[in-house]
Amino acid sequence: MERRAVVSGGGTGIGKAVAARLAGDGCAVVILGRRADVLAKAADELNAGLPEPLVTTETADLSEPAQVQDLADRLTAGGRVDVLVNNAGGSFGVPGEGLAGVAAEWAADVRGNVLPAVLLTTALLSALPRPGGRIVVLSSVAGLRGPGSYGGSKAALHAWALGLARSWPPTG
Ligand SMILES: NC(=O)c1ccc[n+]([C@@H]2O[C@H](COP(=O)([O-])OP(=O)(O)OC[C@H]3O[C@@H](n4cnc5c(N)ncnc54)[C@H](OP(=O)(O)O)[C@@H]3O)[C@@H](O)[C@H]2O)c1
Repeated sequence: MERRAVVSGGGTGIGKAVAARLAGDGCAVVILGRRADVLAKAADELNAGLPEPLVTTETADLSEPAQVQDLADRLTAGGRVDVLVNNAGGSFGVPGEGLAGVAAEWAADVRGNVLPAVLLTTALLSALPRPGGRIVVLSSVAGLRGPGSYGGSKAALHAWALGLARSWPPTG
């Protein structure tokens, strides 16, 4: 049976390259993002290089819990998810005035980098086969040595992902 992968931020950049590789290996791949037009263009491009179309799209803002729950319901209605690639993220924090500016900068990067991975993984955990399910989290060298709120938000993903990994060995 064909494996099924979900790639957040799969319409552009690294996520699109990951989706191309997974689809090239014969996985059915769902690419996620907020912009339907970007996703549709990417799916058309990726499918054009395949013997049969394997790439489909779903839109959601992965920082919004209600949207992630609706998305997870749609995804799990389509069957199990073998591979989840948490790639959506980026550098969202903009330096601002005073402590309020610092708070806003950090909140933007935590919202943009931590919430998509944590919310989507939590919502899809029960759809991953055990053993055999795979979860990948995209960090950055900035998560090891900074700088600032981007590095801090990526570092938060390390602690969360390691905790998740430690809780999984008994179930594979
Ligand atoms: N490029 C680098 O040099 C580099 C280096 C180290 C780590 N990384 C990490 O690798 C990942 C991909 O980077 P990239 O350079 O390929 O970035 P990118 O081209 O900007 O791609 C980010 C993707 O994530 C999606 N996305 C962002 N926030 C989202 C949200 N809240 N909900 C749903 N989708 C969302 C975007 O689509 P929409 O805007 O349509 O939602 C976009 O497709 C990021 O996590 C980044 O931090 C990148």
